[in-house]
Amino acid sequence: MTVTEQDVRAAAPTNAPEDVVTWVAKIAELTKPKAVEFSDGSQAEWDRLTQLMVDSGMFTKLNPAKRPNSFLARSLPSDVARVESRTYICSEKEEDAGPTNNWADPVEMKKTLMGVFDGSMVGRTMYVIPFSMGPLGGPISQLGIEITDSPYVVCNMRIMTRMGSAAMDLIGQGKPWVPAVHSVGMPLTEGVEDTTWPCNDEKYITHFPETNEIWSFGSGYGGNALLGKKCFALRIASTMAKRDGWMAEHMLILRLTNTNTGKQYHVTAAFPSACGKTNLAMLQPTIPGYKVETVGDDIAWMRPGPDGRLYAINPEAGFFGVAPGTSYDTNPMAMDTMKENSIFTNVALTDDGDVWWEGIDGPKPAHLIDWHGNDWTPESGELAAHPNSRFTVPASQCPIICEDWEAPAGVPIDAILFGGRRATNVPLVAEQYSGTHGVFIGATVASEQTAAAEGAVGSLRHDPFAMLPFCGYHMADYWGHWIEMSNKLGDKFPKVYQVNWFRKDADGKFLWPGFGDNSRVLDWIVRRVAGEVEAVDGVTGRYPKYEDFNVDGIELTQEDWDKLFAIDTAAWSAETDETAKYFEQFGDHLPAEIAAELGKLRERIAKA
Ligand code: OXD
Ligand code: MN
Repeated sequence: MTVTEQDVRAAAPTNAPEDVVTWVAKIAELTKPKAVEFSDGSQAEWDRLTQLMVDSGMFTKLNPAKRPNSFLARSLPSDVARVESRTYICSEKEEDAGPTNNWADPVEMKKTLMGVFDGSMVGRTMYVIPFSMGPLGGPISQLGIEITDSPYVVCNMRIMTRMGSAAMDLIGQGKPWVPAVHSVGMPLTEGVEDTTWPCNDEKYITHFPETNEIWSFGSGYGGNALLGKKCFALRIASTMAKRDGWMAEHMLILRLTNTNTGKQYHVTAAFPSACGKTNLAMLQPTIPGYKVETVGDDIAWMRPGPDGRLYAINPEAGFFGVAPGTSYDTNPMAMDTMKENSIFTNVALTDDGDVWWEGIDGPKPAHLIDWHGNDWTPESGELAAHPNSRFTVPASQCPIICEDWEAPAGVPIDAILFGGRRATNVPLVAEQYSGTHGVFIGATVASEQTAAAEGAVGSLRHDPFAMLPFCGYHMADYWGHWIEMSNKLGDKFPKVYQVNWFRKDADGKFLWPGFGDNSRVLDWIVRRVAGEVEAVDGVTGRYPKYEDFNVDGIELTQEDWDKLFAIDTAAWSAETDETAKYFEQFGDHLPAEIAAELGKLRERIAKA
């Protein structure tokens, strides 16, 4: 028995418009599920689906006394991260995808997808999830509908987006929406036994920027499957943003309040995946006189407001954060956010039914069930949690969530930070010389590879604007869009700062304490924005003066400072040669302004 159009019509809520019903029926005809359900986003639905997954073995219910209403899922080792090698931009012209994306011909890819999706949901329930990225009905928000055969996706989407009936109401009013189809790609045909993590070795994460469509096949994990996040809010939204004069960015958003004056500043920051964005978004200042509140930890949609400033919203409703390394020491606010109503994926399970991962507080337990589902002891020599294991938690549970985090029109941005993991070369903080230099800083972000995507952990990779895996069109055209936005807003465009918390000395020791002490860098940045403090011209930008920088309470001598800001001209010269080589691939798409900024950097190095 497979779902018919009549079944879809019977299951559709009364607020589902005809175009949605027709589309769902078409996808049902292709994928042949055994049942169809429209998600309403209710508590009853969450309770039913989480129980269904507990019964099927996909979820382990955590001890309600320790972690109420929370669950653990374990994926297959072959499905633990975003698969960039299987992620495609299917623009009509190959040139529009640019050299940093995998391109596929949209007609060919559709043929392939029609093949793999044919019958891909046999024996499974198809869930239809209407959702809003951004506050419901907000002027910067966008709507979508994800179809999936994974109840895990439904529950994660309930945390990560505004999902259910209210979103369908807006769709029913005729607002545009993005269609997103997802299948784990493991039909339960005759004789096939379901597993606790169905997926397929063949994976396609595909985007059609001209028609705003998303099709994802074969993976149940994170950004591959929760299609509102990277697929919509970054890849598709970045193409929409270029067309319509706004910006979709891989950035956290925070509010920094000077508690003495009450003055508020809003900062966005882009770092490559798993470089501590969630920690910065929830920073606990170690210096007095400041308070940080979280607006978002991963994505910012920004638009010019009526006053000509740039306003940002967080399109998401939850945090999908990297668990290992998170503790009361490194990020107490994240720890408190995940006290309940949370989903954990690929972390370890303690004997008393709670979660554990490398870097969490306290001693290593004597026994755990590791992320493979096997017994684990400290002697086993294996990681108990996968390095890219995650927590999915409602943002509203964050103790320092900003009261304006759902302000439909967003918050006005004062400064934009770009950073990466750089053991060498890059100073603690540098301010742009000009708007185009700011764009150059974003374009030249590079970082040591982390576990958030497949690849050799530790090797240096260029990750411009931390958007390498997320830009839905030609990377150099995206830089051009930044230059255009920066020129359009002029002085009102936020100043850009390059930061690096990860510089090491010759012995491999971190030179900067990081975490809460990053408030010292934010302090200098907002004093610069307010025009209260001077900066000195340097090779990579304008640097703070040691005497202006708040080092009260930490051991940071002038000598340490000099190491943090040291410029090795030979190493920088080599870095510019390497950057020039990197830029070559963009051909004549490379904005002349960016090439000129590289020339200016070379001049500053020569003079240093
Ligand atoms: C994420 C990522 O999951 O950037 O946010 O990989
Ligand atoms: Mn991210």
